[in-house]
Amino acid sequence: MSTPSSSPLAIETPVAATRAKNIVAVASGKGGVGKTFFAITLTHALTMRGRRTLLFDGDLGLANVDVQLGLMPNRDLGGVIAGRLTLGQAKTPFAPGGFDVIAGRSGTGSLAALAPSRLALLGSDLAELARSYDDVIMDLGAGVDRMVRQLASHAGRRLVVITSEPTSLTDAYAFIKVTMGDDPKADLRVVVNMAKSTTEGERTYATLLKACENFLRFSPPLAGVVRRDRKVVEVIRTQTPLLSRFPSSEAAEDIRAIAARLSSPVG
Ligand SMILES: Nc1ncnc2c1ncn2[C@@H]1O[C@H](COP(=O)(O)OP(=O)(O)OP(=O)(O)O)[C@@H](O)[C@H]1O
Ligand SMILES: [Mg+2]
Repeated sequence: MSTPSSSPLAIETPVAATRAKNIVAVASGKGGVGKTFFAITLTHALTMRGRRTLLFDGDLGLANVDVQLGLMPNRDLGGVIAGRLTLGQAKTPFAPGGFDVIAGRSGTGSLAALAPSRLALLGSDLAELARSYDDVIMDLGAGVDRMVRQLASHAGRRLVVITSEPTSLTDAYAFIKVTMGDDPKADLRVVVNMAKSTTEGERTYATLLKACENFLRFSPPLAGVVRRDRKVVEVIRTQTPLLSRFPSSEAAEDIRAIAARLSSPVG
């Protein structure tokens, strides 16, 4: 694909592989299962472990990382797509968390309608930018459509967030099926969110695992279980980070444990 070299989106040196191992995509299939909350809190937890992290809002239709964080960025992906900013210039530091954010732009339609070639360029630029970070967490939109899958394909690891609701399980299964179709070697793990207890969360995971083993001959590992916690509703309402406001809440504990496992050498 040819892009004018004057465009800020152009990559000066060709990137051999557009995938970056340290990009973690957070997907789900079904909407409203807690992807954005989880992506934010995972980024924060990794930062607290001393890692340099970037949170990328890849929900190109209804971006809301900035809303959940109470961040008012004066630059975002809209500027990148319009050609005014490079991806690196579009980041905003989120001081209370100590990590960088690339905010999306909700509701304008310009990002949601990106052509595949532009999206591929954006993904390649993100893979390039990921070299300056230990981890890049990519919050994705709901669904299993082309844009979600294409963005996720730049990640070295995909985390699929599920809840115990049957529709969440069927939609996550659909996401896993199409992902394995696109990329049979994908590193894909499951996060159970809003679980009544860790045991109930493990049961939810077992149900999905069984379907994947029976029909796809694939066993996605469990990245972890996050318990349902009223404190989450409270921090989203007040636009504050869970790990700052309620560091010893159950959900905070669970996400810190997931971050520890993901950042360990064998994680
Ligand atoms: N562990 C949890 N405990 C309690 N409530 C939770 C938890 N995780 C998420 N929620 C609730 O779920 C709601 C949806 O979360 P969030 O916006 O992160 O989901 P999403 O998957 O990103 O949604 P969308 O698909 O619309 O982008 C939150 O507003 C919060 O009320
Ligand atoms: Mg979201």
